[in-house]
Amino acid sequence: MNMRPTTQVYKNYTQQDFLVWETLFNRQMKILTPVVSVEYLKALEIIKFSANKIPNFNEVNILLNGLTGWSLEVVPNISPQKEFFNFLSQQKFTATCWLRSIQQLDYLEEPDMFHDVFAHVPLLSNQTYVNFFKGISHIALRHINNPMAIELLGKIYWFTIEFGLIKENNQLKIYGAGILSSKEETEHCLSNKVIHQPFNVQTIFNTEYKTDILQEKYFIIDSFKQLYNSLTEIETLLEYNLALTN
Ligand SMILES: [Fe+2]
Repeated sequence: MNMRPTTQVYKNYTQQDFLVWETLFNRQMKILTPVVSVEYLKALEIIKFSANKIPNFNEVNILLNGLTGWSLEVVPNISPQKEFFNFLSQQKFTATCWLRSIQQLDYLEEPDMFHDVFAHVPLLSNQTYVNFFKGISHIALRHINNPMAIELLGKIYWFTIEFGLIKENNQLKIYGAGILSSKEETEHCLSNKVIHQPFNVQTIFNTEYKTDILQEKYFIIDSFKQLYNSLTEIETLLEYNLALTN
């Protein structure tokens, strides 16, 4: 694994970094604008991201802190689960602060700042969304030493926060961060090559996924409120599924 920065030193960003951010930002916004959730578009405006400026974490933290009380915690690479859920429960989202190279615009093995920041951070300004996020982390921490519980909660995380779709005015829209930062996944997830299913906790627990391919199944929510309201059911069904295996 590469040595990655553990703090954001803004002056260390190179011209190439700015070019990568600008290229990815403009390219994604062009294809996302008609198909992304209006909640994301509103959030992007609130968080003041733009093509010509790599987000400054200090400024983002001041903004987020005033809106929802959340902030960013710089990590060099993807965090281990326990650390990740611990930070989430304290309203801190772990994010990398380095950018892929211009040669790697389309594929990266590990999440960089374009994924973590462009795709995840705007919705941290949405109170209902972060209430769900925090709720999931609390459930995870109560079961942190049970690998099966973490695997099942990982599926909820995967099919909502990372690859979730939402119905708005009878149209399918994107809110999952894994889709938002990928040109290919943005085009693929709304096509007729994939299966769209309504959000259902038990169905998600029963669904397998792979991390290194375009997804085959996507789950659709009606609203972030629905996600938040499902937290009790998530924990009840989680305990039920764990009891069945004992
Ligand atoms: Fe992510």
